[in-house]
Amino acid sequence: MKTTTDFVKMKKNGEKITMVTAYDFPSAKAAEEADTDMILVGDSLGMVVLGYDSTVPVTIDDMVHHAKAVRRGAPNTFVVVDMPFMTYHLSREETLRSAARIMQESGADAVKVEGAGGVIPMIEALVESGIPVMAHLGLTPQSAGVLGGFKVQAKTAEQGKQLILDSIACEKAGAFSIVLECIPQQITEKVSAECQIPTVGIGAGVQADGQVLVYHDLIGYGDHRVPKFVKKYTDVYPEIIHAIKKYNAEVKNHEFPTPSHSFNLKEEERISLYG
Ligand code: KIV
Ligand code: NA
Repeated sequence: MKTTTDFVKMKKNGEKITMVTAYDFPSAKAAEEADTDMILVGDSLGMVVLGYDSTVPVTIDDMVHHAKAVRRGAPNTFVVVDMPFMTYHLSREETLRSAARIMQESGADAVKVEGAGGVIPMIEALVESGIPVMAHLGLTPQSAGVLGGFKVQAKTAEQGKQLILDSIACEKAGAFSIVLECIPQQITEKVSAECQIPTVGIGAGVQADGQVLVYHDLIGYGDHRVPKFVKKYTDVYPEIIHAIKKYNAEVKNHEFPTPSHSFNLKEEERISLYG
């Protein structure tokens, strides 16, 4: 399994880091089988798996439940678990308690938190306690309400400069990597140059040191709208619908199951059954 220092080394060597989200045993297994560098148990869980319209309702219990399945599916891949909404803001103590549950109950390798400012001391506290932290700047979905929706962030030079300062603060606080979501690529380039730790982009351009995509977006699993920055590498949802429709029709038409899907009594048992 790669470690936080490996990711920093990869940046130094110019080797791109790959990350994909996973929420259960089969998605984690697939990500590991495909040699993904890191897995994120994202709180996007709330939207793509649990059907909420934001990440705000997701709880620590939800994250732990899914992260445990991911750990079982990908025992040899570095797993980062999102700290949910409002579990790392109230106090350092509350933050450490939340992270301790995630680390101990799910077997995560690191946690991810959104934002800088008041979150910086929380990152410091987590790292001091031995918990690797991934930061997350730009579009921070847990604050979508404050940001006015899911929109491109840091669209002015001034906001870009603030984001660069926030990135440096995250690095100083001890974060081992920073997710940059939905920002102009010119800002990504600056942040990636200013920081020694790797940036992992989503909708942040090719200049990030790595990329992350949501599993369901990458494979087209679901009929949800995907943002402009997503590339669907396959589109499984129509295939799934087609398969289930075919199954339903074959059951109605007595075409499934066939003898090859069925079990038989031995000859003598059959005789005694009917005899
Ligand atoms: O929850 C998530 O999937 C994320 C990624 C988009 C970075 O935080
Ligand atoms: Na997230």
